[in-house]
Amino acid sequence: MGSVPLVIFCDADESTRSYLEQHRVRDVANCIIFHECLNDLGSETLRQLSGAEIISTFVYSNLSASVLEKFKNLKLIATRSTGYNNIDLNYCRKHGIRVANVSGYGEVTVAEYAMGMLLNLTRKIEFANNKLRNGIVKVEDDVGIDLCGKTVGIIGTGAVGSYFAKLCHAFGCNTIASDPFPNQKLVDSGICKYVDTAALLRESDIVALNCPATDSNYHFIGSDTIAMMKDGVYIINIARGELIDPMALYEAVVAGKVKGAGLDVLDYENVIIKNDMESVKSSDQSFALYSLANAKLLQLPNVIITPHIAFNSKDAILKILKTNTQIILDFIDGKPVTSVI
Ligand SMILES: NC(=O)c1ccc[n+]([C@@H]2O[C@H](COP(=O)([O-])OP(=O)(O)OC[C@H]3O[C@@H](n4cnc5c(N)ncnc54)[C@H](O)[C@@H]3O)[C@@H](O)[C@H]2O)c1
Repeated sequence: MGSVPLVIFCDADESTRSYLEQHRVRDVANCIIFHECLNDLGSETLRQLSGAEIISTFVYSNLSASVLEKFKNLKLIATRSTGYNNIDLNYCRKHGIRVANVSGYGEVTVAEYAMGMLLNLTRKIEFANNKLRNGIVKVEDDVGIDLCGKTVGIIGTGAVGSYFAKLCHAFGCNTIASDPFPNQKLVDSGICKYVDTAALLRESDIVALNCPATDSNYHFIGSDTIAMMKDGVYIINIARGELIDPMALYEAVVAGKVKGAGLDVLDYENVIIKNDMESVKSSDQSFALYSLANAKLLQLPNVIITPHIAFNSKDAILKILKTNTQIILDFIDGKPVTSVI
């Protein structure tokens, strides 16, 4: 580690910037803060930053091998998120770069958001509000369903999924779950029971995704798995966009098989969120197809899409920034840092 290490903060919004301005990480490191994604910085800027030893990032940046190879001194990537599927872990493994995330910060924040999305969908809150703004009152179109008594299937019961299970239980739902590592406390306290994923898909009125995206579950929700679900199922995804095939979901919603979907994340979400046309230009055909499907989903009245903001509460942002900067300080001080690889 250099005497005053260079630390890049990318994807940094105003709250990150003002937090860092007061923070003592500035006393021990040369901190350069960018609003942009790392991969959007021009080649000259990247060249000037090539000596960086630490990068603090968020989910919008794509830390592919071609970006990371520009940083020959890189030792740590500290992401201000739980998920890290936007980072090329194989490259990091090969080059001895540690990768640290912020896990568990969002159990309440993200689960509350998922519940908000679910209530919004099942009670047609945004739908009715939008009609009213246009002077249309037709309450027969606004009929929803109660959550009490419905079966909610939760895929992934880590920090967020477990808290979401508790909320569903409090609403009187029959809560079932699948996870390779079941949470026995949830079972013992009668909050949910575990079933295999196929049974969960068959039995649930609502399917909620709360697991990470990996190579093996890419587009896990696609035409085959949707066909296994009940007619009129609701789908909630606050986890990662790569879990759902957007084209298959669009077709299922239009066909009425899926009654509604709440999506805080999308496959190729940066095209919509960051207006990332550069990646579109350099992409393959499936990229264009899924981006089109996202645009079509956005037009459907029974689909709610938000720009990856389930984490976005003041309370959670503070926890994220505290943890992220502590990881960086510990690393600079030579203290142990938990790495995901
Ligand atoms: N939208 C947002 O703003 C936002 C914010 C925080 C987290 N997230 C995402 O939400 C997800 C959950 O976050 P978390 O903090 O609970 O993570 P976590 O690591 O605490 O829990 C993930 C759980 O998923 C389980 N799992 C892994 N693969 C699975 C599979 N194939 N099927 C079923 N379960 C599986 C794991 O065993 C674990 O229990 C992550 O994908 C995370 O990136 C999104």
